[in-house]
Amino acid sequence: MFNQIYRSIASYGIIPVVEMDDLNRAEALAGALIEAGLPLVEITLRTPVAIPAIQRIRQTYPGILLAAGTILTLEQAKQAAGAGADFLVSPGLPQDAVEWALHEGIPFLPGAVTPNEILQGLRLGIEVFKFFPAETMGGIAAIKAVSDPFPNVRFIPTGGIQTDNLAAYLSHQRVLAVGGSWLAKRQWIAAGQFDQIKAQVKAALRVVQSLSRPPLT
Ligand code: 3PG
Repeated sequence: MFNQIYRSIASYGIIPVVEMDDLNRAEALAGALIEAGLPLVEITLRTPVAIPAIQRIRQTYPGILLAAGTILTLEQAKQAAGAGADFLVSPGLPQDAVEWALHEGIPFLPGAVTPNEILQGLRLGIEVFKFFPAETMGGIAAIKAVSDPFPNVRFIPTGGIQTDNLAAYLSHQRVLAVGGSWLAKRQWIAAGQFDQIKAQVKAALRVVQSLSRPPLT
């Protein structure tokens, strides 16, 4: 039985991975995603305003499913959770941060692309992994190959995913969802082009809805 957060993510199928430059755009971005039918966003800790942006989004939209991405250290994990993130995402597997989060009951989505990295996560109790950078690492073919020895593992690939290759990933039973910056591009957020973001999200959601994916149990 997967955690409720992962079941929600699976039902949406897509995660917008966001780099925020301007704190004052945070609420508008979250509002646009919600209006497009996607109450889910990952704010990456790659810019100085990421933590306050998470705080603002949490305050304005208490029900949104909110992730903090690019967690590299235990300290960042604590800051992001304190700011209101529901789950934490990393390109790799920072063991102390993963252990702390799981101890606190906060889902952690670590990156893993090799059997050894998956094994390391499994030993800590992880069953859903970020597969990053997906296209560069061999795309869906690589996910199919590496998932064979690990029957219960699921992946959320990110890196090079767009609306046109979304279906190839999501059609595979081990792919729980996909993520990417194409849904809410950094320059669109900076320019306040929220209609463009809504259109992109709606187009991707139409692809997700056209696939017959069984619910995650
Ligand atoms: C991530 O952290 O998941 C990636 O930066 C997303 O990759 P993309 O920009 O190619 O979508």
